[in-house]
Amino acid sequence: MTAKSALITGANRGIGFEIARQLADRGFLIWLTARNPQRGKEAVLKLMNEGRTVRFLQLDVSDPESIRRAAAKLAGEIARLDVLVNNAGVVLRGSDNILTVTADKLSDTFRINTFGPLWLTQACIDLLQSGSRVINISSGAGEICNGMSSYAPVYSITKTSMNAVTCQLAHALKPKGVLVNAVCPGWVRTDMGGPSASRSVEKGAETPVWMAADPNFRDTGKFFRDKKVVSW
Ligand SMILES: NC(=O)c1ccc[n+]([C@@H]2O[C@H](COP(=O)([O-])OP(=O)(O)OC[C@H]3O[C@@H](n4cnc5c(N)ncnc54)[C@H](OP(=O)(O)O)[C@@H]3O)[C@@H](O)[C@H]2O)c1
Repeated sequence: MTAKSALITGANRGIGFEIARQLADRGFLIWLTARNPQRGKEAVLKLMNEGRTVRFLQLDVSDPESIRRAAAKLAGEIARLDVLVNNAGVVLRGSDNILTVTADKLSDTFRINTFGPLWLTQACIDLLQSGSRVINISSGAGEICNGMSSYAPVYSITKTSMNAVTCQLAHALKPKGVLVNAVCPGWVRTDMGGPSASRSVEKGAETPVWMAADPNFRDTGKFFRDKKVVSW
Protein backbone atom coordinates (compact mmCIF):
# COMPACT_ATOMS: atom_id res chain seq x y z
CA MET A 1 0.00 0.00 0.00
CA THR A 2 1.23 3.53 -0.79
CA ALA A 3 1.88 5.64 2.29
CA LYS A 4 -0.53 8.47 2.99
CA SER A 5 0.89 11.92 2.35
CA ALA A 6 0.78 15.03 4.49
CA LEU A 7 1.99 18.55 3.77
CA ILE A 8 2.58 20.87 6.70
CA THR A 9 3.32 24.59 6.41
CA GLY A 10 5.71 26.39 8.75
CA ALA A 11 7.00 23.00 9.85
CA ASN A 12 10.63 23.86 10.56
CA ARG A 13 9.86 24.55 14.23
CA GLY A 14 7.15 24.67 16.88
CA ILE A 15 3.81 22.91 16.51
CA GLY A 16 4.27 22.32 12.77
CA PHE A 17 7.53 20.44 13.32
CA GLU A 18 5.90 18.30 16.00
CA ILE A 19 2.90 17.51 13.75
CA ALA A 20 5.38 16.43 11.05
CA ARG A 21 7.24 14.24 13.55
CA GLN A 22 4.10 12.56 14.89
CA LEU A 23 2.53 11.99 11.45
CA ALA A 24 5.81 10.52 10.17
CA ASP A 25 5.70 8.12 13.12
CA ARG A 26 2.21 7.09 11.97
CA GLY A 27 3.54 6.16 8.54
CA PHE A 28 2.73 9.31 6.57
CA LEU A 29 5.05 10.49 3.84
CA ILE A 30 5.74 14.01 5.07
CA TRP A 31 6.22 17.08 2.93
CA LEU A 32 7.80 19.42 5.45
CA THR A 33 7.58 22.96 4.16
CA ALA A 34 9.27 26.13 5.35
CA ARG A 35 9.80 29.59 3.92
CA ASN A 36 13.51 29.49 4.68
CA PRO A 37 15.22 26.60 2.83
CA GLN A 38 18.13 26.30 5.25
CA ARG A 39 15.91 26.15 8.34
CA GLY A 40 13.57 23.76 6.53
CA LYS A 41 16.32 21.40 5.40
CA GLU A 42 17.82 21.34 8.90
CA ALA A 43 14.43 20.29 10.26
CA VAL A 44 14.08 17.58 7.59
CA LEU A 45 17.56 16.28 8.37
CA LYS A 46 16.74 16.09 12.07
CA LEU A 47 13.67 13.93 11.40
CA MET A 48 15.44 11.79 8.78
CA ASN A 49 18.37 11.15 11.10
CA GLU A 50 15.84 9.72 13.53
CA GLY A 51 14.65 7.30 10.81
CA ARG A 52 11.61 9.10 9.42
CA THR A 53 10.61 9.61 5.77
CA VAL A 54 10.41 13.34 5.17
CA ARG A 55 10.76 15.52 2.07
CA PHE A 56 11.32 19.23 1.85
CA LEU A 57 9.47 21.89 -0.12
CA GLN A 58 10.23 25.60 0.06
CA LEU A 59 6.97 27.39 0.70
CA ASP A 60 6.27 30.93 1.83
CA VAL A 61 2.53 31.00 2.45
CA SER A 62 2.36 34.77 2.01
CA ASP A 63 3.66 34.53 -1.57
CA PRO A 64 1.27 33.20 -4.27
CA GLU A 65 4.20 32.48 -6.61
CA SER A 66 5.94 30.37 -3.95
CA ILE A 67 2.65 28.52 -3.38
CA ARG A 68 2.22 27.92 -7.12
CA ARG A 69 5.78 26.53 -7.41
CA ALA A 70 5.40 24.24 -4.39
CA ALA A 71 2.01 22.92 -5.55
CA ALA A 72 3.36 22.24 -9.05
CA LYS A 73 6.33 20.37 -7.62
CA LEU A 74 4.07 18.35 -5.34
CA ALA A 75 1.76 17.47 -8.25
CA GLY A 76 4.80 16.14 -10.09
CA GLU A 77 5.51 13.75 -7.19
CA ILE A 78 2.14 12.57 -5.90
CA ALA A 79 -1.35 12.06 -7.32
CA ARG A 80 -3.19 12.62 -4.04
CA LEU A 81 -2.60 14.68 -0.92
CA ASP A 82 -4.25 13.03 2.08
CA VAL A 83 -3.61 15.78 4.61
CA LEU A 84 -2.89 19.49 4.26
CA VAL A 85 -2.02 21.23 7.54
CA ASN A 86 -2.13 25.02 7.30
CA ASN A 87 0.00 25.62 10.36
CA ALA A 88 2.25 28.63 9.57
CA GLY A 89 1.21 31.65 11.59
CA VAL A 90 2.57 34.86 13.05
CA VAL A 91 1.97 37.59 15.58
CA LEU A 92 3.89 40.42 13.95
CA ARG A 93 5.75 42.98 16.04
CA GLY A 94 3.97 46.34 15.85
CA SER A 95 0.52 44.79 15.42
CA ASP A 96 -0.56 44.95 19.06
CA ASN A 97 -2.63 48.13 18.89
CA ILE A 98 -5.82 48.00 16.84
CA LEU A 99 -6.07 51.81 16.86
CA THR A 100 -2.66 52.45 15.34
CA VAL A 101 -1.68 49.31 13.41
CA THR A 102 -0.49 50.17 9.92
CA ALA A 103 -2.06 48.93 6.70
CA ASP A 104 1.17 47.05 5.94
CA LYS A 105 1.17 45.13 9.24
CA LEU A 106 -2.50 44.31 8.84
CA SER A 107 -2.00 43.09 5.32
CA ASP A 108 1.16 41.09 6.12
CA THR A 109 -0.58 39.30 9.00
CA PHE A 110 -3.62 38.50 6.85
CA ARG A 111 -1.44 37.18 4.03
CA ILE A 112 0.27 34.67 6.33
CA ASN A 113 -2.51 33.69 8.73
CA THR A 114 -5.61 33.82 6.52
CA PHE A 115 -4.98 34.22 2.80
CA GLY A 116 -2.03 31.79 2.66
CA PRO A 117 -4.11 28.84 3.91
CA LEU A 118 -6.82 29.70 1.36
CA TRP A 119 -4.36 30.17 -1.52
CA LEU A 120 -2.55 26.93 -0.71
CA THR A 121 -5.81 24.97 -0.51
CA GLN A 122 -6.82 26.40 -3.90
CA ALA A 123 -3.43 25.46 -5.36
CA CYS A 124 -3.71 21.88 -4.07
CA ILE A 125 -7.31 21.43 -5.16
CA ASP A 126 -6.64 18.67 -7.72
CA LEU A 127 -4.56 16.72 -5.20
CA LEU A 128 -7.25 16.93 -2.53
CA GLN A 129 -9.63 14.04 -3.16
CA SER A 130 -12.39 12.18 -1.39
CA GLY A 131 -11.29 11.55 2.21
CA SER A 132 -8.49 14.16 2.12
CA ARG A 133 -8.36 16.46 5.14
CA VAL A 134 -7.51 20.14 5.37
CA ILE A 135 -6.56 21.14 8.91
CA ASN A 136 -6.31 24.83 9.68
CA ILE A 137 -4.36 25.62 12.83
CA SER A 138 -6.41 28.43 14.29
CA SER A 139 -6.52 29.84 17.81
CA GLY A 140 -8.82 30.45 20.74
CA ALA A 141 -7.83 34.09 20.21
CA GLY A 142 -10.07 34.05 17.13
CA GLU A 143 -13.19 32.84 18.98
CA ILE A 144 -15.92 35.45 19.00
CA CYS A 145 -18.68 33.41 20.65
CA ASN A 146 -17.89 34.86 24.09
CA GLY A 147 -16.47 38.16 22.90
CA MET A 148 -12.73 38.57 22.45
CA SER A 149 -10.05 39.69 24.84
CA SER A 150 -7.79 42.53 23.75
CA TYR A 151 -4.88 40.06 23.30
CA ALA A 152 -3.06 40.42 19.95
CA PRO A 153 -5.96 42.12 18.13
CA VAL A 154 -4.70 41.78 14.56
CA TYR A 155 -3.66 38.14 15.05
CA SER A 156 -7.06 37.45 16.63
CA ILE A 157 -8.94 38.98 13.69
CA THR A 158 -6.91 36.93 11.21
CA LYS A 159 -7.73 33.73 13.11
CA THR A 160 -11.47 34.60 13.18
CA SER A 161 -11.16 35.09 9.44
CA MET A 162 -9.30 31.81 9.10
CA ASN A 163 -12.25 30.15 10.83
CA ALA A 164 -14.58 31.75 8.27
CA VAL A 165 -12.32 30.51 5.46
CA THR A 166 -12.57 27.04 7.04
CA CYS A 167 -16.40 27.16 6.91
CA GLN A 168 -16.45 28.34 3.30
CA LEU A 169 -13.92 25.75 2.14
CA ALA A 170 -15.84 23.04 3.99
CA HIS A 171 -19.02 23.97 2.08
CA ALA A 172 -17.19 24.20 -1.24
CA LEU A 173 -15.33 20.91 -0.84
CA LYS A 174 -18.16 18.86 0.68
CA PRO A 175 -19.34 17.52 -2.71
CA LYS A 176 -15.81 16.27 -3.31
CA GLY A 177 -15.66 14.53 0.09
CA VAL A 178 -12.78 16.67 1.36
CA LEU A 179 -12.99 17.45 5.10
CA VAL A 180 -12.00 20.95 6.22
CA ASN A 181 -11.73 21.84 9.91
CA ALA A 182 -10.02 24.29 12.24
CA VAL A 183 -8.11 23.39 15.39
CA CYS A 184 -7.07 25.42 18.41
CA PRO A 185 -3.91 23.77 19.79
CA GLY A 186 -4.21 25.51 23.19
CA TRP A 187 -1.45 27.66 24.69
CA VAL A 188 1.73 25.90 23.64
CA ARG A 189 5.40 26.37 24.64
CA THR A 190 6.89 27.50 21.31
CA ASP A 191 8.58 30.69 20.14
CA MET A 192 5.08 32.11 19.67
CA GLY A 193 3.53 30.77 22.89
CA GLY A 194 6.57 31.52 25.07
CA PRO A 195 8.10 29.48 27.90
CA SER A 196 5.24 30.03 30.36
CA ALA A 197 2.62 28.40 28.15
CA SER A 198 0.69 25.58 29.76
CA ARG A 199 1.13 22.95 27.02
CA SER A 200 3.98 21.00 25.48
CA VAL A 201 4.31 20.83 21.67
CA GLU A 202 3.34 17.16 21.91
CA LYS A 203 0.01 18.16 23.46
CA GLY A 204 -0.41 21.04 20.97
CA ALA A 205 0.02 18.61 18.06
CA GLU A 206 -2.31 15.98 19.53
CA THR A 207 -5.64 17.11 18.03
CA PRO A 208 -4.31 17.95 14.52
CA VAL A 209 -2.55 14.57 14.41
CA TRP A 210 -5.69 12.75 15.54
CA MET A 211 -7.72 14.63 12.91
CA ALA A 212 -5.19 13.72 10.22
CA ALA A 213 -4.76 10.07 11.12
CA ASP A 214 -7.97 8.73 12.70
CA PRO A 215 -9.68 6.57 10.05
CA ASN A 216 -13.09 7.21 11.66
CA PHE A 217 -12.87 11.00 11.53
CA ARG A 218 -15.73 12.34 9.35
CA ASP A 219 -16.48 15.91 10.53
CA THR A 220 -16.21 18.96 8.34
CA GLY A 221 -16.71 22.70 8.84
CA LYS A 222 -16.04 22.55 12.57
CA PHE A 223 -13.69 24.02 15.15
CA PHE A 224 -11.92 21.61 17.53
CA ARG A 225 -9.92 21.78 20.73
CA ASP A 226 -8.74 18.66 22.57
CA LYS A 227 -10.54 16.43 20.02
CA LYS A 228 -13.90 18.07 20.83
CA VAL A 229 -15.99 20.52 18.80
CA VAL A 230 -15.97 24.04 20.29
CA SER A 231 -17.87 27.20 19.34
CA TRP A 232 -16.34 29.57 16.78
N1 LIG B 1 1.90 28.53 20.47
C1 LIG B 1 0.65 28.77 20.85
O1 LIG B 1 0.38 28.95 22.05
C2 LIG B 1 -0.45 28.82 19.83
C3 LIG B 1 -1.76 28.99 20.30
C4 LIG B 1 -2.82 29.02 19.41
C5 LIG B 1 -2.55 28.86 18.05
N2 LIG B 1 -1.27 28.71 17.61
C6 LIG B 1 -1.07 28.58 16.16
O2 LIG B 1 -0.28 27.42 15.90
C7 LIG B 1 0.48 27.61 14.70
C8 LIG B 1 1.94 27.30 14.97
O3 LIG B 1 2.38 28.17 15.99
P1 LIG B 1 3.74 27.95 16.80
O4 LIG B 1 3.42 28.24 18.21
O5 LIG B 1 4.36 26.66 16.43
O6 LIG B 1 4.59 29.17 16.23
P2 LIG B 1 6.15 29.34 15.99
O7 LIG B 1 6.93 28.46 16.87
O8 LIG B 1 6.37 30.81 16.03
O9 LIG B 1 6.34 28.80 14.49
C9 LIG B 1 5.71 29.47 13.44
C10 LIG B 1 6.09 28.78 12.15
O10 LIG B 1 5.42 29.48 11.07
C11 LIG B 1 6.42 29.75 10.08
N3 LIG B 1 6.04 30.88 9.23
C12 LIG B 1 5.84 32.17 9.58
N4 LIG B 1 5.56 32.90 8.48
C13 LIG B 1 5.58 32.04 7.42
C14 LIG B 1 5.38 32.19 6.04
N5 LIG B 1 5.11 33.39 5.48
N6 LIG B 1 5.46 31.09 5.24
C15 LIG B 1 5.75 29.88 5.79
N7 LIG B 1 5.99 29.69 7.09
C16 LIG B 1 5.89 30.77 7.90
C17 LIG B 1 7.69 30.00 10.87
O11 LIG B 1 8.81 29.95 10.01
P3 LIG B 1 10.21 30.74 10.34
O12 LIG B 1 11.00 29.84 11.23
O13 LIG B 1 10.81 30.94 8.99
O14 LIG B 1 9.83 32.03 11.00
C18 LIG B 1 7.61 28.84 11.86
O15 LIG B 1 8.00 27.66 11.24
C19 LIG B 1 0.24 29.07 14.28
O16 LIG B 1 -0.73 29.14 13.27
C20 LIG B 1 -0.28 29.72 15.54
O17 LIG B 1 -1.10 30.83 15.28
C21 LIG B 1 -0.22 28.69 18.46
